[in-house]
Amino acid sequence: MRIGKAKPDLASTAGARDSSASATSSCTPAAATAARIAAAHRDTPGALLPILHAVQDELGCIPPDAVEPIAQALNLSRAEVHGVITFYPHFRQAPAGRRVVAVCQAESCQAMGSEVLSSHIRARLGCDFHATAADGSVTLEPAYCLGLCAMSPAITIDGHPYARVTPDRFDQLMQQADALSTEADAQRPVQQ
Ligand code: FES
Repeated sequence: MRIGKAKPDLASTAGARDSSASATSSCTPAAATAARIAAAHRDTPGALLPILHAVQDELGCIPPDAVEPIAQALNLSRAEVHGVITFYPHFRQAPAGRRVVAVCQAESCQAMGSEVLSSHIRARLGCDFHATAADGSVTLEPAYCLGLCAMSPAITIDGHPYARVTPDRFDQLMQQADALSTEADAQRPVQQ
């Protein structure tokens, strides 16, 4: 899922540039990764979003210690970078669960029962949108059109799209996904 052209409101994040380096954060693996990615993109126009996407793709999230190297590379304040991260629901500040379920909340899916489906999924997973189940098994996210409007309601499980999903079908899909994970685990060589 890539972010479109929405324009972040940086007014609330305006303020003095804070380019002070944090010796601690700049030494972490996440900070080193963020610094490398930021350096590679810093001369690209509108570099912040591509950098944030790349950091999340590599680290699974944008942890707090990745913010400062990005800010430094782009001559922004940490508050400005943090403001963009928190503006877009796509960006995570903590790792997702082992599985990510996204449920479309856009108009066509709403008209075809996504609210009932969402209620079922929240109860089934034991967590709300933008949250991860207590056991870390799954993160639940809203989506806003998955391009399957003619076959609403639609969801993705780990990025794989599923159309015309009912509560019963969701349960079946999760059972299948769990079974496939168990099978894959069984085929992995024993670690010694
Ligand atoms: S509105 Fe749900 S897939 Fe388009």
